Amino acid sequence: MVSSSLILAALAAVASAAPRACKAPPALILPKVGGDTQLPAPATNLRVKKIALGHGIQNYTCASPDAEPAATGALAVLYDVTSLFPGTRRTGVSQQAWDALPSTVLHGQALPLNVLEGSQFGADASTPFPAPADLAVPDAAAKFLGHHFFDAAGVPVFDLAEAGLQAAVKKDAGVPAPADADKGPLGTGAVAWLKLDDNGKGRSKGLATVFRVVTAGGNPQACGSVGEGTQSVPYATYYWFYG
Ligand SMILES: *[C@@H]1O[C@H](CO)[C@@H](O)[C@H](O)[C@H]1NC(C)=O
Repeated sequence: MVSSSLILAALAAVASAAPRACKAPPALILPKVGGDTQLPAPATNLRVKKIALGHGIQNYTCASPDAEPAATGALAVLYDVTSLFPGTRRTGVSQQAWDALPSTVLHGQALPLNVLEGSQFGADASTPFPAPADLAVPDAAAKFLGHHFFDAAGVPVFDLAEAGLQAAVKKDAGVPAPADADKGPLGTGAVAWLKLDDNGKGRSKGLATVFRVVTAGGNPQACGSVGEGTQSVPYATYYWFYG
């Protein structure tokens, strides 16, 4: 009688001899924040359609030097990093490079926006976005995917023009970024991780839920230090798009 350990050894040999081409694609699993509070999971019928790296600015306004900054919107360019996900055959990057990519881009790349003259991080209001261009960071090239902006009614929109996908969303849930998250070029801290859902107005195309995770920078400066008025704070993050 053949011992079960021999059979196991034989199976192991077959498995290790299997050509690499048979490797299953990695399961795309959202990262967890790290604390006690987690974002709700996506609905079980949804699948990851795209993972984007977003790089841009978060806008705030201060009503007075004593006020709390109020969020007024955001502008970002989206790059398609789906194929860089660790474990993806041929194109996946290391886990370490993946985890660091929002920081790498935030600190290593110029803001992909048309600069508002006289401001440090502001974007031109009438034409904030330059012509579409790909992202080129060492070992992590990514194609231009689209734009994130707030429309005239203040609705957050993700226009994944290159993929024919769009999401017009409202916030469903948010949790603070992990304590060790990248505080950004101004040292203000990383914006919260969010779950955003289709806002039910029939404007989304092929997308139902968006997660903002692994944020770097984007929190406002105190109104006491910047005074009354608007401010734009650079940030980078992953957006996971489900549909
Ligand atoms: C954000 O601020 C910039 C100026 O930095 C402005 O051009 C843009 O229109 C603002 N966008 C939103 C959505 O608030």
